[in-house]
Amino acid sequence: MTELLSLPHLSRSPRDPAFVQDPYPFYDMIRQAGPVVQWQEWGLPVTARSTVVSACLRDRRLGREAPEGFGQTPPAHLAPFYDIEAHSMLELDGPRHAKLRAQVLRAFTSRRIAALAPEIETLCHQLIDAFPAGGCDLLPAYAQHLPAIIIARLLGLPDATAPDLLRWSHAMVGMYQARRTAEVEAKAVAASSEFAAFIRATLAERRRDPREDLLSAMLAAQAGDGSGLSEDEILSTAILLLNAGHEATVHSLGNAVAQFLERETQWPQGDPAAEAALVEEALRVDPPLHLFERWVLEDMEIGGQAFRRGDRIGLLLAGANRDPSAWDRPGILDPARPSRPHHAFGAGAHFCLGAPLARMELQIGLRVLFARLPNLSLGERPVYADLYPFHGLETLALTY
Ligand code: HEM
Repeated sequence: MTELLSLPHLSRSPRDPAFVQDPYPFYDMIRQAGPVVQWQEWGLPVTARSTVVSACLRDRRLGREAPEGFGQTPPAHLAPFYDIEAHSMLELDGPRHAKLRAQVLRAFTSRRIAALAPEIETLCHQLIDAFPAGGCDLLPAYAQHLPAIIIARLLGLPDATAPDLLRWSHAMVGMYQARRTAEVEAKAVAASSEFAAFIRATLAERRRDPREDLLSAMLAAQAGDGSGLSEDEILSTAILLLNAGHEATVHSLGNAVAQFLERETQWPQGDPAAEAALVEEALRVDPPLHLFERWVLEDMEIGGQAFRRGDRIGLLLAGANRDPSAWDRPGILDPARPSRPHHAFGAGAHFCLGAPLARMELQIGLRVLFARLPNLSLGERPVYADLYPFHGLETLALTY
């Protein structure tokens, strides 16, 4: 095993405009340079190989939580943000993660999700009915509304709250991005406080007057033997669902439309299996979340390199999705290729809990869009936003 110090080093700013528009050539360089490579500006060893990413996501010796003695206490002025993260399943491992995930899965049933299909379809039509004549930016007109309204309804929040949810969620995810500055932090903290106050007030209402929604279901899981969710856990889960359920889906929808129009890929109307295969290819070729980190919980080997407890590694999901040892001509969007699991939703203990909902929203959202607007074409070249490790468009100007 080689030590981390001797790793190949590669350099690229995650805010470099050329990288933001097309990060894939750099991922190819990383993958070719070795199973694990030091990405100078990210400050971590990273991997873009499919087998290594897949193994790491499933390895219990790697976790989201820092091992004892390695994490940093966040500064006091960021407390409103980190207090929410402290109870978020995405940031926890082991029994606390398993308990939270199981409780949410109990409420996030496939029946509850499947029941949303007609609502998603109606909403898509309503949004398109309101499109201006001739052309629009698809992101504010369509992609941003659909996931926000659906996740709000699932939780039991009125549609009218969607603009606030959108604003809070957008401000909060800034904390994970390379563009993070003091101003981004201040906005994230303010959004966290407003978001938390809003959810706590809604929880108080649901406690008095339960309904058929996810917040009420999570509150019901509080009763009983004490193994249920605390109010802080419900709050963090609601905010996680809103943030995770919203940003990634907006970007996936925009990226997919841009990819199809740029590559002249036809949407296979009337063939649900082919539609589903095309959605998977879009998620593989241009996913919205590019990199997730893990802490090393005990000394171990990753890709032939020795890692020590307290080290970290970056898993380049988007780079692994274009590994030629897993997919033939990986940059080509080919729904007819033999299907195999891609990495866009992660894997293992933290595998995306919302994947079935996201897939359904994408399939219906794209189906209705291409059916209603058969002459859809790109108005201008789509431009990706400076959001790394999120990967989504700034604008998506379309004509129809
Ligand atoms: C976790 C991707 C949509 C809820 C994750 C992870 C990925 C991901 C990669 C794993 C992160 C890690 O391993 O560290 C995506 C993509 C989406 C999407 C690409 C859209 C196309 C959604 C939706 C929801 C959701 C719609 C909910 C409504 C979650 C939750 C987790 C998660 C709760 C944490 C699971 C855990 O920690 O056990 N997602 N997601 N996601 N996602 Fe998604």
